[in-house]
Amino acid sequence: MNAPGVVVDAQDLRFRWPGAAADTVVLPALRIAAGEQVFLRGASGSGKSTLLSLLAGVLPPQAGRLQVLGQDLAMLSGPARDRLRADHLGVIFQQFNLLPWLSAHDNVTLALRFSTRRRAQAAEGEAGRLLGAMGLADALWRRPAAQLSVGQQQRVAAARALIGRPALILADEPTSALDEDARDAFMALLMQCCAEAGSALVFVSHDVRLAQRFSRVEVLG
Ligand SMILES: Nc1ncnc2c1ncn2[C@@H]1O[C@H](COP(=O)(O)OP(=O)(O)O)[C@@H](O)[C@H]1O
Ligand SMILES: [Mg+2]
Repeated sequence: MNAPGVVVDAQDLRFRWPGAAADTVVLPALRIAAGEQVFLRGASGSGKSTLLSLLAGVLPPQAGRLQVLGQDLAMLSGPARDRLRADHLGVIFQQFNLLPWLSAHDNVTLALRFSTRRRAQAAEGEAGRLLGAMGLADALWRRPAAQLSVGQQQRVAAARALIGRPALILADEPTSALDEDARDAFMALLMQCCAEAGSALVFVSHDVRLAQRFSRVEVLG
C-alpha cells in the first residue's frame, strides 16, 4: 500500500505506443508527496504528454507500478480511472483547454458537473474566487471563452483544474503559447493557487527557464 500523503508512486513504469520501435515512457521511480510541486523536464517528443496521460489514468500502464492517491491504476477499469480523475485531478493542457462557446465562469464550474466530491469541496462562489485569484477581471467572467486571449484562457483553465481542491494538478506545457510577461504572471499565480488549495502540482515542460521556480526538478528520458 501507499504511504499516507503520497499522491503519485511510480516504479519501473513503461509505456510504448503501438508500432513504436522503443518505449515512449521509461520511468524507474517517481514519488510525489501531497502538496509537492515538481517540474518534469524533457525535450520535445520525450514522452511528457504520454506520461501525464498515464498519471491522469487516460492511458492504462503496460508495465511497472503506478499508484495515484493509493490506487493502483493497472487494477482499475477505464470508468474507475475516469472517476478518480474527475474526483481528484485537475488537468491543464497546452492549449484548446476550454469549451469556446461557454463563458469563463461556466467552463470552471463544468469540472463540478462530473463529480459529487468536487461539488461538495467547492464553496458557493468558488469559481469566481478562483478566477479572481488567477487574475481574471470580473468583467470577463461571463464572456465566451473564445473571446478571451490565450493568456486569459489559460487562467480560466487553471481555475477549472483547481476547483474543488483536487489532490493533484497536472499541467502540460500550459505556458508555451504565452508571451514572457503572461508566462511569468501565470506561473506565479498557478503555483500560489496550488499551494493555497493544498494541491500537488506536476508541471511538465521543455522550457528550462521555468525550472528555476521549482524546488524539485526531475529530468525525463
Ligand atoms: N496517440 C499517439 N499514438 C502514437 N504515438 C504517439 C501518440 N502520442 C504520442 N506519440 C508518440 O510518442 C512520443 C512521445 O510523444 P509525447 O508524449 O507527445 O512527447 P512530448 O509531450 O514530450 O513532446 C512521440 O514519438 C510521439 O510521436
Ligand atoms: Mg507534449
